[in-house]
Amino acid sequence: MNDSKIFLADNLSISRILNGMWQVSGSHGQINPESAILDMLEYHKFGFTTWDLADIYGPAESYIGEFRKRLPLNELEKSQALTKFVPNPGPMTKSIVEYYVDQSLHNMDVDSLDLLQFHWWDYDNPNYLNAIDNLSKLQVDGKIKHLGLTNFDTKRIKIITEKGFKLVSNQVQYSILDRRPEKLMVPFCQKYGIHLLTYGTLLGGFLSEKYLGSPEPHRADLTTASLQKYYKMIEAWGGWSLFQDLLYEISKIAKKYDSSIANVSTKFILDKPTVAGVIIGARLGISEHRKDNANIFDLHLDSQDYDMLNSITSKSNDLFAVIGDCGNEYR
Ligand SMILES: NC(=O)c1ccc[n+]([C@@H]2O[C@H](COP(=O)([O-])OP(=O)(O)OC[C@H]3O[C@@H](n4cnc5c(N)ncnc54)[C@H](OP(=O)(O)O)[C@@H]3O)[C@@H](O)[C@H]2O)c1
Repeated sequence: MNDSKIFLADNLSISRILNGMWQVSGSHGQINPESAILDMLEYHKFGFTTWDLADIYGPAESYIGEFRKRLPLNELEKSQALTKFVPNPGPMTKSIVEYYVDQSLHNMDVDSLDLLQFHWWDYDNPNYLNAIDNLSKLQVDGKIKHLGLTNFDTKRIKIITEKGFKLVSNQVQYSILDRRPEKLMVPFCQKYGIHLLTYGTLLGGFLSEKYLGSPEPHRADLTTASLQKYYKMIEAWGGWSLFQDLLYEISKIAKKYDSSIANVSTKFILDKPTVAGVIIGARLGISEHRKDNANIFDLHLDSQDYDMLNSITSKSNDLFAVIGDCGNEYR
């Protein structure tokens, strides 16, 4: 196994660069289903074998089902699909939870989910603990191989862990710009052996040459839901001018290694403790950066690079103070 793979759990090896499927859910450009499936096969051939998706990402789960039908039989076991359960807060009885899990199994055409990542919108509604309890029972029944969370804060992960539930991972926003996980989440996960899967690591594409030296975008320029989401982050972090300073520093590091802004930004997070993988959004059939992203594993950042980046990020607002712990932006 080389650096591009990691064991998320005993029997679950994943690609450390995961393909993110939020981008097929709408608001990221028109997706043609056939082109999307063909593109998925290309990602797999390239070694990007792990998909991150959710029950709420439009057709994502059924794309996995169709993609799996087209994969040669001997390739099937090399592919992993990590979905999410994102229910509206309400009663979480075993039959309700099982109903949704069965739907994911059916859509993805699998007997058991590799990893189910659970999201909860409202901590004032304590049913999240019933959901976890019943998901654990479905794990015993064999419908779920591993349980993870997404966007849970440290306080609630602690509650869940102390009740004895075994969590493999939490999926959180983590980038050069958004370092909130480092305050509480990373130390907690280090202690309890929980991995982080990260998103927003490329800020929807803002962390790329395309935006280096470019004027502040207008609302109409933010053509994907992802760019809209992370533009707000840039504003809260310190604004466009400081972001340009950061892009410039990253570009200097990228030049030093004959690399790209996206690669430096991804590697910066991939090297962080407890980070098992970085999820990079894939606009299937519209755009792709496979060749560039495959170079991430040849890149090694040194302490001088970290100092250069920290000299800019230390001038920003503290996003933990502004937004709070991981996932607070959703609550
Ligand atoms: N749990 C959650 O709440 C949550 C929230 C958001 C996302 N996610 C997950 O994380 C995934 C990532 O999505 P994201 O919205 O955070 O986006 P992202 O990964 O930060 O950005 C993706 C965009 O970056 C650009 N890009 C990728 N590689 C590049 C390269 N080498 N050079 C230049 N540009 C490059 C592409 O833009 P172009 O297409 O324009 O070229 C791509 O669409 C989602 O699909 C989803 O699976 C989870």
